[in-house]
Amino acid sequence: MTVQSIETDSGLIRLEAAKGNPWQLHPQLATIWPEPYNTEAKEASAEDSHTGQVMLIKYGHQVIGTTGLFLQDDDFLNVYLRWHGVVPQWRRHGYAGEAIKLIASVARMVFPHRRYLVELAPVTQYGEAVIRFFTSVGFTVHPEQHRYCDEMWWPMLYDLKGH
Ligand SMILES: CC(C)(COP(=O)(O)OP(=O)(O)OC[C@H]1O[C@@H](n2cnc3c(N)ncnc32)[C@H](O)[C@@H]1OP(=O)(O)O)[C@@H](O)C(=O)NCCC(=O)NCCS
Repeated sequence: MTVQSIETDSGLIRLEAAKGNPWQLHPQLATIWPEPYNTEAKEASAEDSHTGQVMLIKYGHQVIGTTGLFLQDDDFLNVYLRWHGVVPQWRRHGYAGEAIKLIASVARMVFPHRRYLVELAPVTQYGEAVIRFFTSVGFTVHPEQHRYCDEMWWPMLYDLKGH
């Protein structure tokens, strides 16, 4: 099951399943992450957009960001947040937070038995701002760091049954 589109009650912010190569179709997405994250996000999103689990964040007809979900092998409790970001000129209006609520609704519909939406923040200065955003929208930081792809990360959990 995939969700093609979901929007806020006001209809202002909408998530839409991405098609094709999102970075090619919406070049503004390349302004969201610094390198090397931008290249990683671009490649992963192009590779996986056929699954329906890469989503565009839209304000009206404009694509202002991206988000999505994925699962990890051997983990039956959690669903993972994909690259979640908003282009710089659309930040600090609450739109990334609205998009978290929408993607959590998608997670509940598509993966009704999963308990947590999980995001990893790098243990770096960059990660500190990321943590401030995610905690402000309802994530809690797990007390133990996690090693993934040879780097250390703070797992952050959003309780899908508790919001
Ligand atoms: C992190 C990000 C998604 C936040 O997007 P946004 O649309 O500005 O977020 P919101 O407006 O919903 O912010 C909600 C709250 O989060 C906190 N917050 C957001 N960005 C923050 C920052 N850079 N530093 C500190 N707190 C921040 C604030 O408390 C903010 O509320 P306020 O504006 O009333 O103070 C955006 O900065 C971004 O796309 N960054 C680059 C991509 C990235 O690193 N994504 C996360 C990891 S994949």
